[in-house]
Amino acid sequence: MNWKKYLTLSVILSSVCLGADAQSLLPQPRYVEMSKGSYDLSAPYQQINESGVQLPIALAAVFDGRLASSASGTASQRVVFRKLQGEVSSSEAYRLQVYKDSVVVYAPAEIGFLRAAQTLTQLRVAHKLPCCTIEDAPAFAWRGAMLDVSRHFFPLSYLKRQIDALASYKLNRLHLHLTDAAGWRMEIKRYPRLTNFAAWRTDSLWKSWCQNGCRYVTQGTPGAYGGYYTQQELRELVRYAAERGITIVPEIEMPAHSEEVLAAYPELSCTHEPYKQADFCPGNIAVYDFLENVLTEVMEVFPSEYIHVGGDEAARASWATCPLCRRLMDELGTEKTEDLQTYLIRHMGKFLQSHGRRLVGWDEIIADSLAPGSTVMVWRDKELAREAISRGYEVVLSPGKFCYLDGYQDAPPSQPEAMGAYLPLERVYSYAPLQGLTPEECRLVKGVQGNLWAEYIPSEQHAEHMLYPRILAIAEMGWNGAVQKNYADFRQRAMHETDRLRAKGIRAFDLRREIGNRSDYFRPARHKALGASVKYLLPYNNHYCGAGDATLTDGLRGGWDFGDGRWQGFIRGKRFDVVVDLGCAQKISRVHCNIMQTCGPEIFFPARFVVSVSDDGENFRVVHEEASPVVRTSSPEIKKWGWSGRERARYIRLQAEPGEFGGWIFVDEVEVY
Ligand code: ACM
Ligand code: ZN
Repeated sequence: MNWKKYLTLSVILSSVCLGADAQSLLPQPRYVEMSKGSYDLSAPYQQINESGVQLPIALAAVFDGRLASSASGTASQRVVFRKLQGEVSSSEAYRLQVYKDSVVVYAPAEIGFLRAAQTLTQLRVAHKLPCCTIEDAPAFAWRGAMLDVSRHFFPLSYLKRQIDALASYKLNRLHLHLTDAAGWRMEIKRYPRLTNFAAWRTDSLWKSWCQNGCRYVTQGTPGAYGGYYTQQELRELVRYAAERGITIVPEIEMPAHSEEVLAAYPELSCTHEPYKQADFCPGNIAVYDFLENVLTEVMEVFPSEYIHVGGDEAARASWATCPLCRRLMDELGTEKTEDLQTYLIRHMGKFLQSHGRRLVGWDEIIADSLAPGSTVMVWRDKELAREAISRGYEVVLSPGKFCYLDGYQDAPPSQPEAMGAYLPLERVYSYAPLQGLTPEECRLVKGVQGNLWAEYIPSEQHAEHMLYPRILAIAEMGWNGAVQKNYADFRQRAMHETDRLRAKGIRAFDLRREIGNRSDYFRPARHKALGASVKYLLPYNNHYCGAGDATLTDGLRGGWDFGDGRWQGFIRGKRFDVVVDLGCAQKISRVHCNIMQTCGPEIFFPARFVVSVSDDGENFRVVHEEASPVVRTSSPEIKKWGWSGRERARYIRLQAEPGEFGGWIFVDEVEVY
C-alpha cells in the first residue's frame, strides 16, 4: 500500500491553518483526553517501528518527513509505531499518544495505522499536534456513501476527489450505482452495445430526457449525452480508493431498472421489444447467461467481497403473461410473480458465492431462500430491517427518511431543485440506526450508508453541495455509533469541516448560511379552533396521518418536510373535506389553512377551494369559493388558502379538490380567527 503520496497531499491541503483540536475531530473518537502542550512537527524526529506492519513511510508524511537517521542521534523527538495488543474489536482500531517529545501510534493492522493517520491529519494545526491520548475503533464495519453515476455521468476525477474527502472522515465503502435506465456506465467487453449505445442518451438533463421519451442513441451521435468508465479506469479507481481505506462496491441493477440494457439487447425482455419493459425476463435462460457474464467481468475489476445487484422496484408487469416466465412459475409451483424475482436473486447470490463473493441488494430482495451470506440494504422501513435480520441476513441501514441525500438540505426556495423531501443536516444526524432493535438484532447490523441519487444533480458542483456536510453525519454515526446525540456540538464540528473542504476546493453547502425550517414551524398558532373537534367527511391517509384527528387543530404548523408528522395527506375521492366544530356559535373574521405543493411525490395545490359556515352542522352556506388551474412548480411551495370577512357560525366546512394532475392534498392546520 503506497499511502505516502496521498498523505503528503492531504497534509498539505489541511495545513491551511483552520484551527482544530482533539475535541473538534469528525468523526469523534471513542475516547479523547487532552493534555497541555504540543508536539512540534517541524523538528527532526527518530522513527521506531515495533509494529511488525510496514507503514512508517506512509505515516512519515504526517510528520513532514523530517526523519532523522536513527544513527545520527540528533533527533530529540521520537515517533513510535506499535502493535495494538489484547482484545481488539476491529482491524481499524488504533490508539494515539501525543506527548511534547514523542508520538506513539498503536494499531493491529495497516488499516488501523491509516485510520490513525487520518486522525492525525485532522488534529494537526500548522506545525503542531496537540498533546492528547485517543483510543478509537469503529462502531460499524460498513460506513458507506453511494454515488449515482447513471442518472448523470461524472468523470473519474470527480470520483477521486470524493474518495479523498470521504476517506478523511473514515468512510470505508463507496457504492457506485453504475447502471440504471438513464445510462450504463461500465465497460463490459462481451457486450459492447452497453457502452456504445446504452450509455448515451438524447438529453443531458435527466428530467428533460424523461420528458422527451427516454431514448438512447449511438455513441458519437451529435448532441449525445453520456459516458462510461473503461475497465482500466475502474481498476485505477479501485486502487486509488484502496490506498485510502475505501472499498468500491459496484452495483449492477437486476431484474428491474434495466431499460437501457433492454433497449440495447431487447431479446432479454419478455416481449423482445425495446422501450417496452424495465425488467429482465426471469424465465429466459439467456438472461442468466448475460448477467453471469456481466458479473464475471465486474468481479475481475472489483475485488470487493460484496457485489450489489440492485433488486429494487421490479414492476413485474410482463412476467404474468410471458410464456417463458409462466413456464418457470409452473416449474417452481407458484402463481406469484414475486417468486421469479426471488429465484433470480437467489441464483445470482449462489453464482457470486461460488466465486467467493457475497450478494448485497435493496430490501426488496428479502426472502427466506437467499444465498447464504447475502446482505440486505434497507432503504424503506425499519420493519424490513427486522424482517431481514429475523431471517438471518446482515443489513446495511440506509433509510430514505434519513439517508437519501438527494432531498432539500435547506429551505426549498433557497435551493436548487431536488428529488426528495426536506432533509437538513440535523435530520440526517438524528438517525439512530440501532434504536428499537434488540441486542441480538443489532449484531446483524453491518453498518450505515448515505445515498446520493442524481436524477436532479447534473453537475459536480451540485453533487458536492448535496453531499457535504450531510455525509459527515453518516460518517459520524457509522464510526462512533452516535448513541449520545449532541447536535449543537456536531454542527460546530461539521461547520469546521465544511471550511476545510471548501479550502480544498470541494463545493460544500455553507452551513453558516443555512436558513432552516419555515418560521411557522417554530411558532404555534393561537386561534379560535385550537383543540376543536374535526369531522372528516373524507379520511386522511394512514401513512400521512400527522397526529391523527387532533392534527388540524393542535396549533402546530408543518415544516418543509411533508412527512414531519404535522401534515395530513389526503388521496381518496374528492380529497379534502372537513368540518370544524367551534363548540358554540361565535364571530369569525378569517379562516385559512396551509396547503403544500411538491410535485415530485405528486402533492399538488387544489384546483378548487371552498369555505362554508353553519350553525347546526347540517345546512351550510358557502362564504368563499375559488378555482384556478394547478400549475406545476419546480420547488416545493406552501400557500395559505382561505377566507376573510364577517360571519357568526359554529361549524366551518373546508373543501379542497384536485386539478388535472390528481395526486395528494396536504394540509397542516385549520386556523380560525
Ligand atoms: C431505491 O431507492 N429504489 C433503492
Ligand atoms: Zn418473461
